[in-house]
Amino acid sequence: MKRIAVMTSGGDAPGMNAAIRAVVRTGLQHNVEVIGIRAAYSGLLAGDFELLTSRAVSGILQRGGTILQTARNEEFKTPAGQKRALRRINENGIEGVIVVGGDGSLRGAMALQKMGIPVIGVPASIDNDIWGTNTSIGVDTALNTILDSLDRLRDTATSHNRAFLIEVMGRNCGYLALMSGILGGAEIVITPEQPISMDDVAQALDDAYVRGKSHAIAVMAEGAPYKATELADYLNDHKTHGFDIRLTILGHIQRGGSPTAFDRLLATRLGVAAMEAMLRGENGVMIGLEGREMITVPLSEVTTKTREIGESWFRLAHILSR
Ligand code: ADP
Ligand code: F6P
Repeated sequence: MKRIAVMTSGGDAPGMNAAIRAVVRTGLQHNVEVIGIRAAYSGLLAGDFELLTSRAVSGILQRGGTILQTARNEEFKTPAGQKRALRRINENGIEGVIVVGGDGSLRGAMALQKMGIPVIGVPASIDNDIWGTNTSIGVDTALNTILDSLDRLRDTATSHNRAFLIEVMGRNCGYLALMSGILGGAEIVITPEQPISMDDVAQALDDAYVRGKSHAIAVMAEGAPYKATELADYLNDHKTHGFDIRLTILGHIQRGGSPTAFDRLLATRLGVAAMEAMLRGENGVMIGLEGREMITVPLSEVTTKTREIGESWFRLAHILSR
């Protein structure tokens, strides 16, 4: 193989740049030219490609976001879009594509593979919902960002005897909410996996007040069955608790920032392993982390299953919230 392309796709995740750098430098080590596809499947359809030299990926390891940019593209989901993508790949002599992104992006990779293009996937999404890997690029950084905010919010909550409702990202997955709840000392966590009624949230805050706490934190996943604003209104109208309620929606803050040591290492290892897998002829697989090892998992599995949060984490959250 002489020319391999790489793209970052879906929501950006801190560590994507470290993965790009690792892919490029591993390719160069094997005398393979690496082409960057700008703005994911949109750039693929538009033929927006650039040669990635070793210097092009210098000084990006510590940067959040992605130097290749990312996008979401509906046209690529259609047969006509996919045919055009295939033409672009062939016209440019690209022999394989490495896709760094979330589960949607990896479904896109599967579509390329079905048209005969060798593909390797690299899991990157702060949501931690990708099957076949313990964790994905960006999760650790996002979790640290959330914890930083949560600690700050607790300072002000304690000073005013308030309860804070904090909404975190995760799409349909409650991982970030549950983990930040455990690690940030939340009184209650609301997830799509184990939803609780607004009344139970109010009760948990009441209990915290009665137990003499000077603050209370409720962490809520964006995928919970009701909106954060609805819950905040409900809690404010619910007269039995002693705390004044404030709502903070963390939003895209969670996606930015310099990747943690863990994410840099994970992204670097995944990027190297992805290029090496491509060069030894593997196809239609994602590289994942299992224990401390890099593994390959068929994309057919990755795209049909969803990573679930183990029951034991919910138990832990419950025990520690007393
Ligand atoms: P993520 O990769 O973070 O889960 P999305 O679900 O938005 O993000 O997917 C990113 C992009 O991947 C989509 O905008 C689309 O271009 C492509 N994609 C998603 N699902 C499919 C699919 N079933 N077939 C082809 N392409 C897809
Ligand atoms: O998949 C990553 C993610 O940040 C989700 O947590 C969130 O639901 C979504 O992307 C937000 O997407 P956008 O950046 O398009 O608003």
